[in-house]
Amino acid sequence: MEIPRHVAIILDGNGRWAKSRMMPRNYGHVRGAANVEVICRAADELGIKYLTVYLFSTENWRRNPDEIKALMKLFHSYTRTAIRQARENNMKCRVIGDPSALDETLQKNLRELVESSKDNTGLNFQLALNYGSRDEIVRAVRKIASDVKDGKIEDPAAITEETIASSLDTAGIPDPDLLIRTSGEQRLSNYLLWQMAYSELYFTQTPWPAFTKQDLEEAIEAYNQRTRRYGGLKKGEED
Ligand code: IPE
Ligand code: IPE
Ligand code: MG
Repeated sequence: MEIPRHVAIILDGNGRWAKSRMMPRNYGHVRGAANVEVICRAADELGIKYLTVYLFSTENWRRNPDEIKALMKLFHSYTRTAIRQARENNMKCRVIGDPSALDETLQKNLRELVESSKDNTGLNFQLALNYGSRDEIVRAVRKIASDVKDGKIEDPAAITEETIASSLDTAGIPDPDLLIRTSGEQRLSNYLLWQMAYSELYFTQTPWPAFTKQDLEEAIEAYNQRTRRYGGLKKGEED
């Protein structure tokens, strides 16, 4: 079986999972955060090299203030745990998104997580926090525009796909081969729009807190049934 090099996940359904158990949404977030570790380990065991999970979107600020507060509190404790887990499991962690809107302590934790794990050689784990693809593209375009203004790029024709890719938060990270979204919704919700131009999309009804290693394996099996053409034809498809 071919193991996708990079799996991106939209972890969705924490709230609905909790509600179906007569519990508050925040309980779903707590269990959801705990499941991130489980799936990181599973991904590593399966031989996945890059895992990127969507933890908080630029649009999630539209939620009610109590839920946002609870999520931020959870990210504080989660980042502390992640620092330990990265050490134990040899994970190299990176953050994508705009951390500037997060509070100082959380930003500090994130810097520590990235810095303390930068030489690790196991799973490459990207946390998408205050991440939105359009916001990321806007920030990348601003960076390129200032390079033009400063004369670092002289000719607009010198701007290539590579210029853009390397100006995104995911610079240096291969594009996702497989996207998994849990809990039934079939949309991208502003996630990795540039990077997922050719990713295989897999949607499952399972809500994130209930998503297991076996579910991940099923997604990889489904991925193996797909024929990835990238616009061309595979061997054997030609006349
Ligand atoms: C995903 O679960 C976690 C975040 C977006 C922070 P949701 O909170 O979206 O749960 P549902 O989709 O409302 O059930
Ligand atoms: C996407 O989930 C964002 C994250 C998983 C962090 P949402 O639950 O916020 O997405 P929508 O609002 O249903 O599109
Ligand atoms: Mg949701």
